[in-house]
Amino acid sequence: RQISLIGAPTDIGAGARGASMGPEALRVAGIAATLAAHGLEVADRGNLAGPANPWLPPEGGYRHLAEVTAWNQAVHDAMLAELRADRLPILLGGDHCLGLGSISAVARHCRERGRKLRVLWLDAHADFNTSALTPSGNLHGMPVACLCGHGPQALVEMSGAVPAIDPKWVRQIGIRSVDPGEKRFVHEVGLEVFDMRFIDEHGMRHAMELALATLDANTHLHVSFDVDFLDPDIAPGVGTTVRGGPTYREAQLCMEMIADTGRLASLDVMELNPALDLRNQTAELAVDLIESLFGKSTLMRA
Ligand code: ARG
Ligand code: MN
Ligand code: MN
Ligand code: MN
Repeated sequence: RQISLIGAPTDIGAGARGASMGPEALRVAGIAATLAAHGLEVADRGNLAGPANPWLPPEGGYRHLAEVTAWNQAVHDAMLAELRADRLPILLGGDHCLGLGSISAVARHCRERGRKLRVLWLDAHADFNTSALTPSGNLHGMPVACLCGHGPQALVEMSGAVPAIDPKWVRQIGIRSVDPGEKRFVHEVGLEVFDMRFIDEHGMRHAMELALATLDANTHLHVSFDVDFLDPDIAPGVGTTVRGGPTYREAQLCMEMIADTGRLASLDVMELNPALDLRNQTAELAVDLIESLFGKSTLMRA
C-alpha cells in the first residue's frame, strides 16, 4: 500500500496543551522510515494549518467550537484527497477531536465507493459526550457522538450525510473512563464496547476476535488510535492518562490481529503529548505498535 502521513499540529479540542507537538514527535521517532523498512511507499505530506489555540473557557458546552470546526474541515479534506487517490492515510494528531474530520472523510469515501465501514476506536475513553453531558466542554471527548449524529451541526454534517456513521459500525477497545451521563448515552445507542473489565476477563485475543468478526473483502477498516489507550506506565506522554490500560504485550496482540485481517485502510494516531512525555518514549512506543499494525511479525506468517 502507498501511505500518506498527514500532520495536524493542534490541541484545540483537548484539556491540556501539547498534543500540537505530536506529529513532529512521531516523525522524530522515525514513523516514515519504520514503515518504509516494511516495503511500504511512504509520502509525508507535512502539516496542515489551522487557527491557534486561544485557550478560552467553554461556550454553550463547547470549547473552541469554531477553531475545532476549521481544523476538522482541513483534516477531512486532506484525508479525503488521499483516500480518493487510493492511498492509505495516517493522520498524525493532534488531539482526538480530529477523529471527527478523519472518519467523516472515510465515511464519505465509503459511500462513494459502496464499501462497508468498520471503525476500531482504541482508547481509554468512549469520547461519546455531548454539550449537555460533557464535564469539560472539551471536544476531544465528543467525536464518536458527533459521528453518530449527536453534536453541533457543522461537525455532524461534515461527511455530507447525517449521521456520518451508524453506531453499529464501531467497536471500542480498552475503555476504562466514561463520564456518568456519557455512560447512559453509550448504553442507549448500543455502542459495542470491549472495556478493560472484558479484556481482563476474556483476554485481548477474544476481544479482538469479536471486534474483528464479520469483516469481509469489501470492508474498509479504520483504526482510531488514541495513545491514552495504553497503560500510562508505558505511555506517559498523553494529556488524559487513566491507569489500568493494556500492557505492551496486549497492545502488540491487538495491533497484530488487526494487521492479520489485511483490511486496514486508514489510521489516526492521536493525543500524543510530547510536553508530558519522557525522552519521546511514548512516541517511540506508538511507532513500534504501528509497525505491528502494518504487519511486523517475529516469524514468517502462514
Ligand atoms: N471524558 C472526558 C471529557 O469529556 C475526557 C475525554 C478524553 N478524550 C480524549 N480523546 N483523550 O472531557
Ligand atoms: Mn482517550
Ligand atoms: Mn476466543
Ligand atoms: Mn480519545
